[in-house]
Formats: sequence, C-alpha cells, structure tokens
Amino acid sequence: MPDTETGPNHVAIIMDGNGRWAQMKGKPRLFGHHAGAKRVKEIVRACPDLGVKYLTIFAFSTENWKRTQAEVSGLMSLFRRYIKGEMKDLIQEGVRVRFIGDRPRLDDKLIKMMDDLEKVTAQNEKVHLTIALNYGGRDEVSRAVKEMARDAALGTLDPETVDETTLTRYLDTRVLPDPDLVIRTSGEARISNFLLWQSAYSEYEFIDTLWPDFTKDVFAECTARYATRDRRFGAVKV
Ligand code: FPP
Repeated sequence: MPDTETGPNHVAIIMDGNGRWAQMKGKPRLFGHHAGAKRVKEIVRACPDLGVKYLTIFAFSTENWKRTQAEVSGLMSLFRRYIKGEMKDLIQEGVRVRFIGDRPRLDDKLIKMMDDLEKVTAQNEKVHLTIALNYGGRDEVSRAVKEMARDAALGTLDPETVDETTLTRYLDTRVLPDPDLVIRTSGEARISNFLLWQSAYSEYEFIDTLWPDFTKDVFAECTARYATRDRRFGAVKV
C-alpha cells in the first residue's frame, strides 16, 4: 500500500514555460507571465479540494535578475498588481500568504506590500501560500549560516549543539513543513536552486505542460499520481 494515499500536504511548484508559451503565440514574454499569474489564482483556489494545505510557488529566483531590465521590471510590476488585486479575495478565502527569499534587494514599495499582505492574512489557516520572490536555495542556506555565525559570536548559539534541526530553524521556511511533492512544468528536469534543503525527500513531477496551461485538472492529476507512490525516506518497508 502506498504511504501517500491521502495526497500531498505541501506542494511546491516551479512555474516554468511562460516565455515559451507567449513566444508560441507570437507575443512578448510578459504576456506569458500575465497568463501565468492568472493560473496562480486558479491553482491557489484548487488547493482545498485537493487536500493541499501548503502551496509554495517559485515566482522569481536570485538568478532571474540576469533577464532583460524590461522583463525584470515587468515581473516586479506584475507582483505588485497581483498583491493589490488579490488581497481582498485572499483574506476572504482563508489564505495565509508568506514570502520567502532575500527581501532587501527588492524595491521598497513592493517590500511594503509584501509585509502588508503577510500581516492582513496572518490569521488565516485554510491554505498556506508561500511565494518565493528573489529566492535561491543556496542563498537561503548562506543567509541562515551567516545568522548562525552571528549568534555563535554573540554567545546565543552553542556551535556544539548545531544539528539539522538548528539549521532548519534559521531558514526562511522555518515555520513550513517540508514539501511532499515538487512539480516543475515545461519539460525541464532540474530544480534550479529551489528549496534545496527542504526537498531532500520530496517526490518530483516533471511535466511537459507549460505553466500558463497548468489547469486545476492537471494539478489534480499530479496529486493523484503522488497518491500512488511509496515513500520510504531511506528505510526498508516491512
Ligand atoms: C518561468 O518561466 C517563470 C518565471 C521566471 C516567473 C514566474 C512568474 C509568474 C508565473 C507570474 C505570476 C506570479 C505571481 C506570484 C503573481 P520562463 O519565463 O522562464 O519561461 P521560459 O523558460 O519558457 O522562457
């Protein structure tokens, strides 16, 4: 019997393929990102029916600054638009929003909107939506280690006591469970610096669908396949 028949509690998604989707339609890349944002709304709403309590999405990586200035600023304005346009519904629908990633590099207006959205949804608990924005797994671990070194220097952390749980407590994701299932759309089979520490024992779904075509039915198929898998976490099943 699979151990996963209840479906994944925490799904993390690498939303890839917006650019190719737009190019295939002869449109600019930002057109694909806008279509991608609409999918985000649909997929967040699909979570309760699929029993998904935690959804973490990769919106902008620490490497995405290498894109053209027009695409980066277009994405930043899309994030502001999403927060402004969705705030009311997210509050009403019981979604608690959190952001992970290195905030200081983002612009002040966006940071303020992110802080506000976290505050106004802090009492919600139906779905926990985490948006990774200026996020990189290696960057997150480096920042955590820096913080630990500071605490050790201050004398508030004893280096001899440091173990996996200690590091987990210093990560951006400290309050989240590890992802059960990581989905990447668009046919690429790599994790691109997403949740490196947290996904050590996650199941993976690499699917060909481009993110703007990722409907709630495709999402349901991914969670249903997960439910047939047998997770052993390194142990032998008796
Ligand atoms: C990757 O596709 C996608 C991104 C870097 C941006 C993800 C952003 C969204 C889905 C927009 C909305 C998000 C929120 C939270 C409102 P790509 O552009 O790399 O696609 P390609 O590989 O086909 O070029």
